[in-house]
Amino acid sequence: MKRVYNFSAGPAVLPEEVLKEAASEMLDYQNSGMSVMEMSHRTKLYESIIKGAEQDLRDLMNIPNNYKVLFLQGGASLQFAMVPMNIMKNKVGNYIITGQWAKKAYQEGKKFGKVKALASSEDKVFSYIPDCSDLDIDSDADYVWICENNTIYGTKFKELPNTKGKILVSDMSSCILSEPVDVSKYGIIFAGVQKNIGPAGLVVVIIREDLIYKEGLDNVPTMLQYTIHDENESLYNTPPTYGIYICGKVFKWLKALGGLEKMKEINEKKAKILYDYLDSSKMFKGTVVKKDRSLMNVPFVTGNEELDAKFVKESKAAGFENLKGHRSVGGMRASIYNAMPIEGVIALVDFMKKFEKENTL
Ligand SMILES: Cc1ncc(COP(=O)(O)O)c(C=O)c1O
Repeated sequence: MKRVYNFSAGPAVLPEEVLKEAASEMLDYQNSGMSVMEMSHRTKLYESIIKGAEQDLRDLMNIPNNYKVLFLQGGASLQFAMVPMNIMKNKVGNYIITGQWAKKAYQEGKKFGKVKALASSEDKVFSYIPDCSDLDIDSDADYVWICENNTIYGTKFKELPNTKGKILVSDMSSCILSEPVDVSKYGIIFAGVQKNIGPAGLVVVIIREDLIYKEGLDNVPTMLQYTIHDENESLYNTPPTYGIYICGKVFKWLKALGGLEKMKEINEKKAKILYDYLDSSKMFKGTVVKKDRSLMNVPFVTGNEELDAKFVKESKAAGFENLKGHRSVGGMRASIYNAMPIEGVIALVDFMKKFEKENTL
């Protein structure tokens, strides 16, 4: 069996223990004589899987009782529409544009109301997080939107914006469960699971229950109403059953590891190895303002496109997959999510050192 070090931004590396356990249960889940894939979502056994996953996520993130957890479909991108469709009472959305995902959400928001960009870091290719301490927030804004970790550009909000009392909506797709967060500071948190949690096709939504409106939804398709999914405990229709099962296993893996405090410690250690090298290298450079650096996505360049391409090619041949930067920015990017072992980062840095030596005159 061959396993590579997979630095993909998503779908991404999953904990090997989880994959092995899932493999061992593939044909017969807990003496049911069937795979979870083959199981009705209306059975007691499946109920224990989805309820268990929710409880473990609640435990990990310390989710207060007045927040609901929903397992939905359509990826993170559908939330760009679902959020305004469901909570834009005044038809006013305020967005902080820190990258392509926030921009897409902002553009989608336009379909449902009046949207405003409060701040943007596009002037410097999204390489920093703008000052969000005193934004010109609309007095009737229904929410302030952030993309908390910018997967493509490798920046992260280290401090939440001052929303002046308005509801904060956070796209946490690429940083959820990488460190503890205070859920009570948010109105809605959502994350496509294909980075830090599980297989693609699923989005986790954590929503304060008073934002699950029942009125004003006449023109909102049933499948896009939070209230329907809440009433039916994420079982309104057939959910992505197998994906939820794998997510549940990843939650258990994180709990066994020591929870999010411990995960943060490990993530900081891993990221430091790579950033320290980038700061000392004469060939490779990080592209992000230091204080805004992400623990999850680390973009870097040599400054020479040919050399970048050579690096991507040679690193692949050496067993390091998916180091090519996003097609919109070029260069390289190492996504070092929770499940990337520290050995993978050490091996990558060793390879980079070797490459630097071999390619320096
Ligand atoms: C921060 C962020 N938001 C949203 C998305 C879109 O997710 P999906 O493909 O699940 O719609 C991504 C995907 O990479 C992302 O990184």
